Amino acid sequence: MGDLRNIDIRYLENKRFFDRWAKTYDGGHLSSWFQHTQNIAIDLLNLQPDSKVLDVGCGTGFAVCRLAEKLPKGRACGIDLSPEMIGKATAKIRDQIKERIEFRCASSCKIPYPRGFFDNVMCTNSFHHYPDPIRSLREMQRVLKPGGELLILENAPDRCMYTWIWDRILRIFERGHVRYYTCAELGQMLRFAEYDDVELRYVARQFMKMGKICGSIQVWCCKKPNSNERESYRYANR
Ligand SMILES: C[S@@+](CC[C@H](N)C(=O)[O-])C[C@H]1O[C@@H](n2cnc3c(N)ncnc32)[C@H](O)[C@@H]1O
Repeated sequence: MGDLRNIDIRYLENKRFFDRWAKTYDGGHLSSWFQHTQNIAIDLLNLQPDSKVLDVGCGTGFAVCRLAEKLPKGRACGIDLSPEMIGKATAKIRDQIKERIEFRCASSCKIPYPRGFFDNVMCTNSFHHYPDPIRSLREMQRVLKPGGELLILENAPDRCMYTWIWDRILRIFERGHVRYYTCAELGQMLRFAEYDDVELRYVARQFMKMGKICGSIQVWCCKKPNSNERESYRYANR
């Protein structure tokens, strides 16, 4: 019970933190870094013109707007815990893409879409804020079609000392930050959450780039298993 309460408090703290940050998120000193990393993620996604794609922790909607332009017959959706972030994202919807774009305020552990709705789910620069990461990974898996693709882009503290130190500082001073995961840990979590074809697709360490002194990222791609057997076993035994 105590643990659950702690988790609820972390969500609340995250929401408050990002509601405040939403006002300056676009145009802030890190915004070109965030856009740069979201572009890396989008380029790695396996997209078809009619794909339905979800961005979890979409922030002010940069990636979702880009996806809507790339998917003439598809759908680009974004969810975020922060109503202020979603407000900023919604304000960016232009007439040309409004039929195929949607933003909703929601948490990674309760995604407001039916089972098997999406072809691709992506999550960039957001996973380290999740108080119950495995539950979030399972929820992302629920909304994916069998064989659908999950892409996670995160910082990589084992690839850069600066990121490792920054993680320690954030753990003390930023209540919304849970922790950065090493490449080995994130891969292990994806396997534990029962994804298939778990693959580290991109690792980079970059100095003095896009407003950051130094940054390191890891990008993981994996798939929801094609067979529903494992999933129905899990749900039957809950
Ligand atoms: C650093 S921003 C990243 C935004 C965007 N994905 C990007 O790459 O620039 C992290 C975002 O994750 C959102 N977030 C944090 N915890 C969340 C959760 N549990 N569920 C959904 N969104 C969450 C925050 O509100 C914030 O907008």
